[in-house]
Amino acid sequence: MVNSHVRSSLVILFCLILLPRAWSQTWANDPKTEARIDSILKQMTLEEKIGQLNQYSVGEATGPGGSKENYADMVAKGEVGSLYNVPNGEKINEFQKIAVEKSRLHVPLIFGLDVIHGYRTTFPVPLALSATWDPKIVEKSARVAAIEASAAGVRWTFSPMVDIARDARWGRITEGAGEDPYLGEAMARAYVRGYQGTSLSNPDSIAACLKHFVGYGAAEGGREYNSTEIPERLLRQVYLPPFHAGLEQGAVTLMSAFNSLNGVPASANPFTLGQVLRKEWQFRGFVVSDWTSVAELQNHGIANDGATAARKAFTAGVDMDMESNLYWTTLAPQFKSGAIPMARLDEAVRGILRVKFALGLFDHPYADLSRASTVMLAPDHLAASKQAAEESFVLLKNDGVNGSPLLPLKADAKVALIGPLADSAKDMLGSWSTEGKADDALTLRKTLTERLGDKLIYAKGTDIRTDSEAGFAEATTAAKEADVVIVALGEDAAWMTGEAGSRAHLGLPGNQEKLLETIAATGKPVVLLVFSGRPLVLDWAASHVAAIMECWFPGLQAGAALAETLYGQNNPSGHLTTSFPRAVGQEPLYYNQLPTGRPPKDVDLTQPPTAGTEKYVSRYVDEQNTALYPFGFGLSYTTFTYSPVTLSSSTVRAADLNAGKPGLTVTAEVRNTGSVAGTEVVQLYINQRGTSVSRPIRELKGFERVTLQPGESKRVQFTLGRDELAFWNIDMKDVVEPASVKVWVAGSSTEGQPVQFAVE
Ligand code: NOJ
Repeated sequence: MVNSHVRSSLVILFCLILLPRAWSQTWANDPKTEARIDSILKQMTLEEKIGQLNQYSVGEATGPGGSKENYADMVAKGEVGSLYNVPNGEKINEFQKIAVEKSRLHVPLIFGLDVIHGYRTTFPVPLALSATWDPKIVEKSARVAAIEASAAGVRWTFSPMVDIARDARWGRITEGAGEDPYLGEAMARAYVRGYQGTSLSNPDSIAACLKHFVGYGAAEGGREYNSTEIPERLLRQVYLPPFHAGLEQGAVTLMSAFNSLNGVPASANPFTLGQVLRKEWQFRGFVVSDWTSVAELQNHGIANDGATAARKAFTAGVDMDMESNLYWTTLAPQFKSGAIPMARLDEAVRGILRVKFALGLFDHPYADLSRASTVMLAPDHLAASKQAAEESFVLLKNDGVNGSPLLPLKADAKVALIGPLADSAKDMLGSWSTEGKADDALTLRKTLTERLGDKLIYAKGTDIRTDSEAGFAEATTAAKEADVVIVALGEDAAWMTGEAGSRAHLGLPGNQEKLLETIAATGKPVVLLVFSGRPLVLDWAASHVAAIMECWFPGLQAGAALAETLYGQNNPSGHLTTSFPRAVGQEPLYYNQLPTGRPPKDVDLTQPPTAGTEKYVSRYVDEQNTALYPFGFGLSYTTFTYSPVTLSSSTVRAADLNAGKPGLTVTAEVRNTGSVAGTEVVQLYINQRGTSVSRPIRELKGFERVTLQPGESKRVQFTLGRDELAFWNIDMKDVVEPASVKVWVAGSSTEGQPVQFAVE
């Protein structure tokens, strides 16, 4: 006989197995809260229910269309569920007072903002954060952002952006974690943990919003807001997983995207919003549209008027209308006529109220603004921002000059610092800097001036986007006077990266490359620092300058983090999360591509084809296939070697893995073979063959940052089980199939010696 204790444990276990998706949403399953929501819903008029579905921007506009003016009135009448871009905490508390004291049912507002990579303490841009391969520092960045934003009354951020981006032309690649879904999942979880804290109801927790659901990162041609075509297998395999991971971590909201997906706009897409999100994932929070994406359904051509646009978005599953004002103006008659079922309205309002309850807004609607003076720019926040920046720099090249690598620099060298990014505080903030202030940002020039005094010569050389060579002569003179030249080049963060920052050319903008060529012609050793929100084409630099470091946009502590890295107090440990192309024509470029029927195996791709056999393979006639700097790549001031990889078994059974049994372990030893301490990002890749559908030539399935003293080594162990080996097969089932599997453990997606096992 099974005793009752054992029986109830079995029941719980059974539920956990059966409901792997729902149980993580504990915040949405509290019976007391559900009863309170029932009671509010019963008291609400139709207009009050619809009121909850509207969101308006009060302050700065980050999109087209106008906001309204009479918010106080609208809030008092219960016509608003959320406000965003409210200029400050005092204003937020004022609006909240109107909502909870003057509106009939006292339903609090939820206040949103794009807190993307820090609030007042700006961190490196998200693409840079992903290059740390360090979920802990990413979580910390989100925690700091939450602590600061909530002290200014903001309890909801439109972050993280978990769109997979495989095309460097797309400006918003800077806002995500790059091209890989496995890394994307890890980063999505880290952000959600950081923003939402141990409990969403803590006053310093803020609700996360996974965006942009879904497929926005696959914009055709990398052109902003453009259409996407993503077959269902690819959608489920690559684009959906980071959203699912974020939801499993407890994210309470999502934002529907601007783009159309396979002909159906994402903001009115019943398959993604209904079938996947609500039915399969049992989502119980709410979906907000992107800025006017409900109204834009008319431009997409699936609605001839606002009422139809609103109906299509709402019935598909967009609960809250950001900025279009179409839910408020057109939905009521459509409920009355029965064109939209009332049950859908209750579901949407319930989701919104649930999140407001989870945040504790019904019980503690006001922000305690007294915290602001102690938390904004707190020393530990600045320290975390600096650490994140230091971990994010990717050393791409470090050649020897006079027998030793150029970096780290020698303390007594006379330095020329040249370039438009050397002293541009505002660009250090990156796109979406929210409350970050250029005045708080340390530039490299500022830090190096303090550090080097008259051993530093500075010359701007040129602007980011100009043809004028007026500054070239001064820069050349500076270079000639120095022992070493640091050239700081890159993009204009606000104009060329982030939303509406797509580029058709991926070189250094303006005449910066010409400046670089001019400086290199002096013969002085050159360190190129690249500041960008995306991979750039750096082919000339790669073959002409001694050292190159990708610095992204590093945030408030840019100068301090860069100086310590240049002088070796910090050893670079960032690794790329997006492939750096040799030419823009290679885009979209990503490492985890499918094999082709004609791989160019034994052909010298550095030369144009001369014979027929060389030509008729999958290649360009004028460029190599490979990335200039591949996914996962990053150098250090030390070197690492890997032992051969060992597996705990040479076979596993697909049926066992599908039944949830453990898989095998993969072990390798990594050793620091250089003379300084360093951190390696150890990466596990697999390739499966003999399967019902083609699998990528390599796929990331594990990673770990490992810090080693000179001569030290460490065994790193990974597991390969169902989660790592299952894929959407020919029958569109997410299962493990028999396969022969290659496994690599290495410091980049193009390195390592594979070992093999069989899934039978
Ligand atoms: C439009 C952007 O696409 C989205 O990411 C952002 O959160 C909203 N505007 C609100 O500012």
